[in-house]
Amino acid sequence: MDFERLYQSIFRRKSVRKYEMTPLDASVTDEVSRLLPSLKPLFDIRTDISLVQGDTIRGLLALKAPHYLVMSSENREGYLVNAGFILQQMDLALSAMGLGSCWVGLAKPSGNIAIKPGMEFVIAMAFGKAAGSLYRDSLSEFKRKPLGKIANVPEDPLLEAARLAPSSVNSQPWYFKKEADRIHAYCIRTGGLKALIYERLNQIDMGIALCHVWLAGLHLGKDPVFARQPEFPEAPAGYEYVISVSGI
Ligand SMILES: Cc1cc2nc3c(=O)[nH]c(=O)nc-3n(C[C@H](O)[C@H](O)[C@H](O)COP(=O)(O)O)c2cc1C
Repeated sequence: MDFERLYQSIFRRKSVRKYEMTPLDASVTDEVSRLLPSLKPLFDIRTDISLVQGDTIRGLLALKAPHYLVMSSENREGYLVNAGFILQQMDLALSAMGLGSCWVGLAKPSGNIAIKPGMEFVIAMAFGKAAGSLYRDSLSEFKRKPLGKIANVPEDPLLEAARLAPSSVNSQPWYFKKEADRIHAYCIRTGGLKALIYERLNQIDMGIALCHVWLAGLHLGKDPVFARQPEFPEAPAGYEYVISVSGI
C-alpha cells in the first residue's frame, strides 16, 4: 500500500452517495481486493473485509451502490476503533484510485453474506464509479470544526489531518491534547437513547481520525505508536480518554 497516496487523499476526498450502477470491471475490483491484505491494523484483533455486490446490503439507510466492502471483526476491547482505523485506509485508497466511496453506518448485510466464525459484522462501505464529482476542489469545502475547538493547540499537521476526517453525521466526536511528543485522543460521551446508535459509531469515527493522524505522521517521516497509557491528561468535560500517540 502506498501510504503517501492515502495521505494525499485526505485533503480532497468526500463521501460519494450517487453511483453509476454498472458493476466495475473485474480488473478494478481485483485491484481493490489486492489492497485488503496490506491494510494496517491499530490493534492485534482479527478482522475481515469482504467485497460484495451492492444489492446484498440492506436497510432503509443503505446507499444504492454497485459494490460494498463489508467489515467484520472479533468483538474485543478496541475493536470498533480498530475497524475505523483499518477501513478508512480503503476509503482513502478508493478515492486515490478514482472511485467514490461512503461509509454506511446503519445498513446490514443480508443473510447470504457469511461472517467468519468468531467475528461479527461491524460496518459497511459503499463504493463504485461516482455519478457526480469525486473530489473537493479546496479545503474550504470541508465542513469541519476549527482546530481550536477540537484540540488544545492552534495548529499541528497531524491534528489538521484528523480534523478533516469523516465521521458519522459529521459529528466529529473527537478532542486531542498535544503534549511535547505525544497526542492524547478523547471521544465525546453520549448518553440516553442517542448512545444506542452513536456510541458505536463514535468509536469507529475515532479510529478514522487516528488513521489520518498515523498517515500524517508517516508523511512527516515519523513512526507513530498508538497505546492506551495508564496516565494521561484529564479528559475535557463530557469526553473520555481513548488512546495516546507517541513517536511523533
Ligand atoms: C462511521 C460512519 C458512518 C456513516 N454513515 C453514513 C450513512 O449511513 N449514510 C450516509 O449518507 N453517510 C454516512 N456517513 C458519511 C458522513 O455523513 C460523512 O463522512 C460526513 O458528513 C463528512 O462528509 P465527507 O465524508 O464528505 O467529508 C458515515 C460516515 C462515517 C464515518
